[in-house]
Amino acid sequence: MAKLLLSALFICISAIGMAAAAEVVAGHPGCLTRCGDVDIPFPFGVSDQCAINRNFWINCTKDAGKPFWGNFELAKISVEDGKVWVKAYMSTQCYNTSTGKMSYRDAWANLTGTSSWLSDTDNRIIVIGCQTLAYMTSDSYVIGCSSACDNKVSKLTPKNDSCSGAGCCEANIPKNIQYYQGYFNEGYNTTKIWTSSPCSYMAVMETRAFNFSTTYLTSRVFYDKYKGGVPVVYDWAITAETCMEATRNKNSYACISNNSQCIDNLTNGQGYRCKCSNGYEGNPYVKDGCKDIDECLNNVTYPCTGICTNTLGNFTCSCYPGNYMMNSV
Ligand SMILES: *[C@@H]1O[C@H](CO)[C@@H](O)[C@H](O)[C@H]1NC(C)=O
Ligand SMILES: *[C@@H]1O[C@H](CO)[C@@H](O)[C@H](O)[C@H]1NC(C)=O
Ligand SMILES: *[C@@H]1O[C@H](CO)[C@@H](O)[C@H](O)[C@H]1NC(C)=O
Ligand SMILES: *[C@@H]1O[C@H](CO)[C@@H](O)[C@H](O)[C@H]1NC(C)=O
Ligand SMILES: *[C@@H]1O[C@H](CO)[C@@H](O)[C@H](O)[C@H]1NC(C)=O
Ligand SMILES: *[C@@H]1O[C@H](CO)[C@@H](O)[C@H](O)[C@H]1NC(C)=O
Ligand SMILES: *[C@@H]1O[C@H](CO)[C@@H](O)[C@H](O)[C@H]1NC(C)=O
Ligand SMILES: *[C@@H]1O[C@H](CO)[C@@H](O)[C@H](O)[C@H]1NC(C)=O
Ligand SMILES: *[C@@H]1O[C@H](CO)[C@@H](O)[C@H](O)[C@H]1NC(C)=O
Ligand SMILES: *[C@@H]1O[C@H](CO)[C@@H](O)[C@H](O)[C@H]1NC(C)=O
Repeated sequence: MAKLLLSALFICISAIGMAAAAEVVAGHPGCLTRCGDVDIPFPFGVSDQCAINRNFWINCTKDAGKPFWGNFELAKISVEDGKVWVKAYMSTQCYNTSTGKMSYRDAWANLTGTSSWLSDTDNRIIVIGCQTLAYMTSDSYVIGCSSACDNKVSKLTPKNDSCSGAGCCEANIPKNIQYYQGYFNEGYNTTKIWTSSPCSYMAVMETRAFNFSTTYLTSRVFYDKYKGGVPVVYDWAITAETCMEATRNKNSYACISNNSQCIDNLTNGQGYRCKCSNGYEGNPYVKDGCKDIDECLNNVTYPCTGICTNTLGNFTCSCYPGNYMMNSV
């Protein structure tokens, strides 16, 4: 989104393109707005003075300038959508040739007490294996699925890009999850078929980032691809308060930009976030962060076949002299 906006600005008004680039990642004065390859816009920040509250601390000194959000390596922040992308470990169940048994590594995450929740719309539980039953357990849920390959009882042929029980299965994630732990049912294992299929995997990960490949069953390709962690999306709120509660405390209320508003009808988790009012875009959490959208620069989203005139928060589209009047959008 920010990239699209930038390229539009560079094409149309290249003279002020640089100013716009600096403003896209609005941080607090004196605070880093970038750590490694990742933009760190306010309400996130690299210290307690730079972040709006503890939930938004990014540790940029933990590991060679890579940003960390709690225990997770941070990959991306979206202020507009109220989401963060992190890298998390997967769970593995592998045949151990030195012991002749299965070795387990169960991944977990615990954000209890924060104002962030595993995104139910962006993530899914993915299980990969030829004789595998794995789950995600949470405080109030056990969700998982089983995956199998060709064997005596079933004729399941794993296919590339297909994850529906043959070598791969997936399950949806409920709303309001802050804690989870991965588990394998040990009764399902690959001790008998380890030469062709040594490992099974379970990952809670971003649905869009996953594509099943049959090579995942027979080699380390899947594990190696996500060695640094699978992408996971979390939804965040500023605090767990409603907008009405949050506005009572003027000192901590986060929606401080002109032309911003508060939203608390979140579909996952609870609390409030800020957004720029219609016709504005930018960062609602910083002073004057919401900028007027010049609709006339984008005739795809805002079509106007006549004379386009930008106004604050809107635009008008009037017809050329001699033409019929047209409605503005
Ligand atoms: C970042 O992590 C390092 C190493 O774990 C720790 O010493 C430091 O206090 C952390 N900084 C912040 C701001 O949390
Ligand atoms: C195999 O098992 C041994 C003994 O428990 C352990 O030290 C080793 O790390 C295991 N290897 C793998 C690849 O898990
Ligand atoms: C998760 O974290 C919370 C808060 O730190 C803690 O009280 C709880 O015991 C943790 N849950 C698990 C299962 O470790
Ligand atoms: C799936 O795709 C991989 C390459 O990505 C290929 O090596 C493999 O043979 C394909 N599997 C099948 C069953 O076609
Ligand atoms: C592997 O699964 C078989 C059943 O398929 C079970 O009898 C065996 O105990 C399991 N092995 C381990 C190490 O869990
Ligand atoms: C997954 O595979 C399909 C079909 O090959 C492709 O269209 C899609 O872009 C792939 N997605 C990812 C995330 O690689
Ligand atoms: C923001 O709003 C305040 C109060 O309405 C006004 O004084 C100020 O000029 C506005 N700033 C901008 C950049 O529009
Ligand atoms: C929440 O409210 C905003 C503005 O009032 C609206 O645009 C949005 O669609 C609502 N979202 C949900 C999930 O109801
Ligand atoms: C923009 O103007 C049109 C036409 O006057 C109106 O229907 C629309 O609600 C306005 N949009 C905003 C965001 O004010
Ligand atoms: C949109 O703008 C581009 C560039 O200014 C122009 O080439 C194109 O014809 C316009 N499209 C419409 C539908 O007005």
